[in-house]
Amino acid sequence: MRKKLIAANWKMYKNPEQTKAFFHEFLPLVAGHTRDEIVVCPPYIDLCVAIESCKGSNVAIGAQNLYWEKQGAYTGEICPAMLLDIGCTHVIIGHSERRQYFGDTEETVAKKTKAALAAGLIPIVCVGESLAQREAGHTEKICHGQFTGGPGALTPEEFSRILIAYEPVWAIGTGKTATPEIAAAAHRFLRQCAAEKFGAERASALRILYGGSVKPDNIEGLMAQEELDGALVGGASLDAKAFASIVNGCESAR
Ligand code: PGA
Repeated sequence: MRKKLIAANWKMYKNPEQTKAFFHEFLPLVAGHTRDEIVVCPPYIDLCVAIESCKGSNVAIGAQNLYWEKQGAYTGEICPAMLLDIGCTHVIIGHSERRQYFGDTEETVAKKTKAALAAGLIPIVCVGESLAQREAGHTEKICHGQFTGGPGALTPEEFSRILIAYEPVWAIGTGKTATPEIAAAAHRFLRQCAAEKFGAERASALRILYGGSVKPDNIEGLMAQEELDGALVGGASLDAKAFASIVNGCESAR
C-alpha cells in the first residue's frame, strides 16, 4: 500500500506574514491527520517562516525549484544544501511553468533531481502534456519522453527515492481537471514506463501524484482511483480552509 502525499505548490504567492497566518489557520484543521503525508512548497523567501511555523507538526516543507551546483557564482540561484540546511525535506522539479518560462529541459530536470537526491532532499518530478499534444494524440509519447530523459536517467537507487507528479498542462490553473479515469490512465502509463526501465517492484513502489485544478469538490473522485497516490495542488492550496478540505477529502476517499 503506497502512502498518499498531498502537496501544495504556492507558486509566486504569499509573503512571510501571509505564510505565518496561513499555517496558524491550517495546522489545527489537519492536526491528527497522519494517514497521508502533507507537504507545502512556498516561495523561497517564505521557507524559513514556514519551517518555523510547522515545527512539531505533521506538515513538511519543500521548495519549488533548485540549482544543481553545490555552490558558486550563480546569481539568483539556490543550491540543494541551502534548502536542506534550513529544514526543507522536499523539492518540486521540472514543473511545467519552469519548463515553459524558465528553460527547464529533460536534461536539467535530471541534473536537478540527482543534485537534490545527493543532498538528501525528496524530489517531486513533474511531467505532463499540453492541450495541443493531447489533441494530437501524443500524450503517451510526451510522457514517455519526459520520463525517459528525466527520472529515467537516474540510477535505480536514486529512482526509488523520488515521486512523480503527472500534471497535464491543460488542467493547470484552468479549472479543467482531468477526469479520474483520464488521470488514472496516464498514471498507469507512467508506471509502465517505470517498470520497463527499473523493474516491476520499483514501479509499483513509485508514488505518482496528480496535479491540475485539484479542488475540495473533486479530490474524493480523484483519490478513489487506486493509481493516484496523492495530489499536487496549486490555486486551491493558497486558502487554508480549501487546502485542509482537500487533505481531509483525500482521507475520506478511502
Ligand atoms: P492548479 O496548479 O491546482 O492551480 O491547477 C497545479 C500545479 O501547477 O501544480
